[in-house]
Amino acid sequence: MKNYSIAIDGPAGAGKSTIAKRLASKLGFVYIDTGAMYRAITLFYVDKGIVCDDESAVIEKLEEISVSIKYIDGAQHVFLNGTDVNDRIRTQAVSDNASKISAIAKVREKLVAIQQKMALSENVVMDGRDIGSVVLPNADLKIYLTASVEVRAQRRYNELIEKGQQAELETIAKEIEERDYRDMHRENSPLVRVPDAKLVDTSDLNIDEATGFCLGLFSLVKEDQV
Ligand code: DC
Repeated sequence: MKNYSIAIDGPAGAGKSTIAKRLASKLGFVYIDTGAMYRAITLFYVDKGIVCDDESAVIEKLEEISVSIKYIDGAQHVFLNGTDVNDRIRTQAVSDNASKISAIAKVREKLVAIQQKMALSENVVMDGRDIGSVVLPNADLKIYLTASVEVRAQRRYNELIEKGQQAELETIAKEIEERDYRDMHRENSPLVRVPDAKLVDTSDLNIDEATGFCLGLFSLVKEDQV
């Protein structure tokens, strides 16, 4: 039987993971958060105190790392060398260093191979930066999900304030711009909108509207394939 794959790429804060998760649950597909895998590898180096922009030091240790994904009560958990690190990969230190680690070609090769294998046997919704361009170039549906810097900064600001943390809107917007620039201008697998990806701008859409829109795109693809 055919396996379906939906690739969702786009910059940080556009709503990729929330929308991908909802799509997967509505369609009964497996959701694969590839950013979590880059974050898990990054955690290895952060824990060891290895400087993440020292490429040769990173590559030297790469063989010691194994990253895997398991589903516990339907939620994705990422394992680093056998330990569930889901609760440890969302810190500021990991976020800051993940964009350096994910710029290294050998790191990408390792994770792309795992991601491609996962999509062989399951219907998947996979989100990241290079899914439509590198990981699943033959995906049934490719979506490039984006939103303006202002809207993404405001969303992040609201999240932090809700958690009772301090936040400054202007600083967040600047960090988002810097991260976008790094992701879009790196040499290896930069974030790009491939020509066959549908552009979905969530600046003026709430989560339900954006999910509904993406579901509609997938129905069209399936109709076309019948
Ligand atoms: O989506 P995220 O913030 O969890 O991603 C963490 C980092 O990994 C971010 O710097 C972008 C990078 N990444 C990537 O290069 N390729 C992917 N497929 C997914 C994430």
